[in-house]
Amino acid sequence: MRILSGIQPTGDKHLGNYSGGFRQYVETQERGDAFFCIVDLHSITVPYDPAALRSSTLDLAAMLFAVGLDPQRSTVFVQSHVKAHAESAWLLQAVASYGQLGRMTQFKDKGEGKDFVSAGLFTYPVLMAGDILLYQADLVPIGDDQRQHLELARDVAQSFNSRFGETFKLPEGVYPTVGARIMDLQEPTRKMSTTNGTPQGTVRLIDEPDVIRKKFKTAVTDSGREVRRGDDKPGITNLIDILSVATGETREQIEARYADGAGYGQFKGDVGEAVVELLTPIRERYLLLRSDEAELLRLLRTGAEKATATVEPTLRALYDRMGFVQP
Ligand code: TYM
Repeated sequence: MRILSGIQPTGDKHLGNYSGGFRQYVETQERGDAFFCIVDLHSITVPYDPAALRSSTLDLAAMLFAVGLDPQRSTVFVQSHVKAHAESAWLLQAVASYGQLGRMTQFKDKGEGKDFVSAGLFTYPVLMAGDILLYQADLVPIGDDQRQHLELARDVAQSFNSRFGETFKLPEGVYPTVGARIMDLQEPTRKMSTTNGTPQGTVRLIDEPDVIRKKFKTAVTDSGREVRRGDDKPGITNLIDILSVATGETREQIEARYADGAGYGQFKGDVGEAVVELLTPIRERYLLLRSDEAELLRLLRTGAEKATATVEPTLRALYDRMGFVQP
């Protein structure tokens, strides 16, 4: 079983990334041959600072190991170290249409109202399709916001297979049953995000415990007093999901526990405490791992070598079937 996922290095990683991404990576690495890619090539599709990209790439590597990826089991690597990613992005543009890409909601969300919208922001899902298809991945653990991109990757694979011959496996997305879309604590109708969310409503994985407690204390709640889920209660629903992710309790268990009318204040305090408990050991491991850059670079180099060797046959097949003369 082949598993692949990717995550962007820029922007501080937050509780949404933990829930839809990291947590699932750690679970799925047990199920087969797992590859986790720090997608630096994706990060240049929005305005960015080169120096920040460099350090955030290493920050993310440290975080991936801190949350529990085991370098003995998982291959962790940087996308730009494996040249096949950039190459396949160009090649696959032959079978991805302008119309398909124009329907991507993330392109609309990230591009709307911006002075500068890069061409890369538009073609980005093709790069992501290549990331997945090059590895002949069976499973792709992701959060809900990447669902449309995964569907596009499947469409690209199908178009390529039918036009040039069977080449790619069709990947399946793996979504968490709870916490596939963690929302902003201040504006619970939009997803938690360091780039597009509110600073106070975004819980960063490296936030100090008191900062986390404060963010939960000031989280927006809904009318009424009961701790229960519902379309009319986006704030409380989100906090129940977060508590479930942090403690492993089901949402029903949580609702039952607060059915005696403990009130929102107590509930928010408890969620904050549970998140502090979840993130404190991760933050401590992260700080330790981040301090040894030489070791991180060594692990990433080893990962890139394995990834390069893994994708080589598929990359060759791609060129060959498309009719390129082999050197
Ligand atoms: P990225 O870097 O934005 O996010 C990384 C992972 O975190 C998940 N996520 C969330 N899950 C729940 N709630 C949220 N609020 C939340 N915010 C983010 C994302 O769904 C993702 O799983 N295009 C991708 C990166 C990528 C990729 C790939 C993923 C590039 N190539 C190949 C899988 C396979 C992205 O920008 O994710």
